[in-house]
Amino acid sequence: MSQKNVNTESRDIWSAESYSQTVAPFVPTLTDTVQAWLDPQPSDAILDVGCGDGILTAKIATHAKHVVGVDGSNNMIAAFQQKYPHVSSRVVDCRFLGREKDITNQTFDKVFSNAAMHWILRDPTTRLEVMSACFAALKPGGIMVSESGGLGNVAEVHAALIGELIHHGVTPERAREVSPWWFPSLESMKILVEASGFKWIKGEVELRQTKLTEVEGGGIKGWVRLFGADFLHELGSDYEREQAIERIVEVLEGVGRRQHDNGFSVNYIRLRFKAQKPN
Ligand SMILES: C[S@@+](CC[C@H](N)C(=O)[O-])C[C@H]1O[C@@H](n2cnc3c(N)ncnc32)[C@H](O)[C@@H]1O
Repeated sequence: MSQKNVNTESRDIWSAESYSQTVAPFVPTLTDTVQAWLDPQPSDAILDVGCGDGILTAKIATHAKHVVGVDGSNNMIAAFQQKYPHVSSRVVDCRFLGREKDITNQTFDKVFSNAAMHWILRDPTTRLEVMSACFAALKPGGIMVSESGGLGNVAEVHAALIGELIHHGVTPERAREVSPWWFPSLESMKILVEASGFKWIKGEVELRQTKLTEVEGGGIKGWVRLFGADFLHELGSDYEREQAIERIVEVLEGVGRRQHDNGFSVNYIRLRFKAQKPN
């Protein structure tokens, strides 16, 4: 089977509407700890890497002097600019953030990222480049604060997606290859961050059992459809994709259904860190 670098495709899997209204409105809101670590100040210039449709970016902007959001999705940035025209944002594939010379010129006090680095760092060939670009964006002494998926994040859904592809005859290697995520151990993230020149200040991993939405188009089905799009893209037709989604949901039914209120939980594992560019 031919090799495909999923990260060079131009498909935009992100729908701002599904993301923030039906599938995952909790992503930018369950962020108290990472916001506290960022601790935005009125004098701060902050770069938000993988800002999405800007809900969290706009919130941070109310506490800072200047905020710039960058995200690889045209759909997300279009929604951002419609909702928050007063906050600066633009489309940047952050695997190549280093090419944005007006950003990577030591003008930011802080670099922030929420729920995006496990997508942006997926490609091993650009991983170090991403972190080095974050480093280059900071003033000496500046800090980076990030929260993203850690090792074992959404493992039950991840495994079900891979299993479904194998069921369709996709090789296990290929099924792993099309995964759009890099979920590192805390130690692996620390190695990457330090290799880019940062001083590691602190890091932690947290299991966050997260109840999914119950609205039409949301829940585990909506989650699989939106976040699993790169896996489902391997299948030949819309019919196959719909069948696959039904089967994955059926598999997960016995795993994540909560006994006490019939809600559905996914085991999110959050990895957060704070690092500093030396003076
Ligand atoms: C789960 S959303 C998080 C958005 C936002 N930070 C929040 O907290 O709501 C992940 C975001 O990462 C972005 N992303 C994924 N790969 C990217 C890349 N290579 N460059 C820039 N952004 C990327 C997606 O477009 C998406 O908006």
